[in-house]
Amino acid sequence: MDVNIMYFSATGTTKKIIKSLANNFLEVTDNKIKKEVDFTLIHNRKEGIDFNKNDILFIGVPVYAGRVPNILLKYLNKIKGNGAFVIPVVVYGNRNYDDALIELNDIVKKDWITNGMHIIAVGADMAGKQELESDIFKDARIFVDSKAQCIQRGETRNPIIEEKILESDIQAELSTILLNNKKGRISDKDITIFDTTGMGVQDNTLAFMIYHKALALKIGKKFDFLG
Ligand SMILES: Cc1cc2nc3c(=O)[nH]c(=O)nc-3n(C[C@H](O)[C@H](O)[C@H](O)COP(=O)(O)O)c2cc1C
Repeated sequence: MDVNIMYFSATGTTKKIIKSLANNFLEVTDNKIKKEVDFTLIHNRKEGIDFNKNDILFIGVPVYAGRVPNILLKYLNKIKGNGAFVIPVVVYGNRNYDDALIELNDIVKKDWITNGMHIIAVGADMAGKQELESDIFKDARIFVDSKAQCIQRGETRNPIIEEKILESDIQAELSTILLNNKKGRISDKDITIFDTTGMGVQDNTLAFMIYHKALALKIGKKFDFLG
């Protein structure tokens, strides 16, 4: 897979975030960035751009007035995914990202999704949030971290409410897959979704890994919380 990055970044934060996300990803895959498109300046937004199903694209924009900056819409709609794996990112100044992520995500339409894709849905963790089009769930094998949580406030909640899928269409929780009690992907053509709302065990596992990596790298400071 080829990793590509695209960003609009007037004051540099979105560029920094997108580069850092892509580089972290590259650390575990041994790939290199194939294409970097900075579409901050108008002369870089003249031509559309095409990707294909061998591409991974990290694309980022800042939030302006709760939305994707409207001067970018024409250009963003000229980008053709053709089945690329896209990670849309919005960066905000800590007021609120409002509808910006939904808007950017709308560009990652159902027709961008092709057989064999795996989607990790991380963003929605309360009722009312939605980052994936509900129709994407109809053809996918669906996995969740916690069934009870995802039905109430995960991405899976939306297609269930819209009656596009049933609760029983959820294949399994992650723990079931990890214990090898159910298969995740059955064929290379499966579209799979992992909806994650966040559980204590994930936080603890990550904290454990960060702690041990910091010890190995001899970085960080001991801190007495109760001091
Ligand atoms: C015109 C304008 C509108 C903005 N609107 C919002 C907003 O609605 N919510 C928010 O949290 N931040 C808002 N911000 C802050 C930016 O989203 C934030 O500073 C972002 O990190 C800028 O990204 P950049 O450094 O890549 O340009 C706004 C900034 C500008 C310039």
